[in-house]
Amino acid sequence: MIPKGYDIKSLTQNELKALIEENSHVIDEKLLEAARSTREQSYGKKVFFRGLIEFSNYCKNDCYYCGIRKSNRNVRRYRLTKKEIIDCCITGYQLGFRTFVLQSGEDLYYTDDFMIDLIGDIKNRFPDSAITLSMGEKSYESYKKYFQAGADRYLLRHETATKDHYHQLHPKNMNLFTREKALYNLKDIGFQVGAGFMVNSPYQTIDHLVNDLLFLKKLNPHMVGIGPFIPHHDTIFANEKSGTVDMTVLMIALVRLLLPKALIPATTALGTIDPYGRERGLQAGANVVMPNLSPTSIREDYSLYDNKICTGDEAAECKECISERIRKAGFEPDFSRGDYGGYCIANVYP
Ligand code: 5AD
Ligand code: FES
Repeated sequence: MIPKGYDIKSLTQNELKALIEENSHVIDEKLLEAARSTREQSYGKKVFFRGLIEFSNYCKNDCYYCGIRKSNRNVRRYRLTKKEIIDCCITGYQLGFRTFVLQSGEDLYYTDDFMIDLIGDIKNRFPDSAITLSMGEKSYESYKKYFQAGADRYLLRHETATKDHYHQLHPKNMNLFTREKALYNLKDIGFQVGAGFMVNSPYQTIDHLVNDLLFLKKLNPHMVGIGPFIPHHDTIFANEKSGTVDMTVLMIALVRLLLPKALIPATTALGTIDPYGRERGLQAGANVVMPNLSPTSIREDYSLYDNKICTGDEAAECKECISERIRKAGFEPDFSRGDYGGYCIANVYP
């Protein structure tokens, strides 16, 4: 049972703010315990694996925080072919992965027809696997086509749920309304949807974090990606401070309490700022890890932030390493599809 006082779903804006402030230096062990037991009630000790395939680092956007933003001329750009993407899935499948996350910058090279063909092919080869897409904002029609082709899930972090803060992190042609609309469209179509935000991003205040929590409560997504902001040397935020493990872990715990059944990754960014960051994420209620299946030759080119971990490791090494760490932390690596709620929600459209 969740200890009294941690039923945070009913807290008002001011109460949430006070709760974050109270825990912002030292996190109350009881709160972490409540988050852990909530996650255990929903998913036991399982930690779900997702194989991440970063298939293109071209991006038409220019988010101020991101290393692969359009205006960064120092990035060696790459695009994987259909065959290269499928090869990553084959390797992943042989290793036991049953979810493939296809992530890229917003790259118009990959037309809807390309994606439909790719998704269909992966689904034909691996009908017992889930496909998660993470390729940014698209029209309702495009999202619908991907879903009809067999994609199961879609990740699109909202980044910050405060309008003014959104504008401090993004150029004028991007806005929070469009981002939120895209998330609601994805839900409407039937995807399992992931939102999320960076912790301690430039200009972020506790009020902004409260807004993020309230937005997540309203959207009620299936997945929530939460990681610390980490500066990238080729962006205008190069000299900003990295987010802290403590604040990130606190946010993971609060989101776990707010959305008991959410799938929450212990992110690579969290593992980057602290050697035991991912373990601390798991102890605070996270229950997903996303090792990289991308070819090692291009791994370093997908750098959204500096010093990203695991860029030199083969998929198999990463799998073993993370599995061992999960067991050591007292959890169980799980290679099933790992759908929301613990039962299979395969996309059987139409
Ligand atoms: N630090 C941490 N996370 C970042 N992302 C992009 N740039 C950074 C950064 N500098 C995150 C964004 C995006 C996800 C793919 O990576 O939240 O949605
Ligand atoms: Fe927007 Fe990379 S340029 S997340």
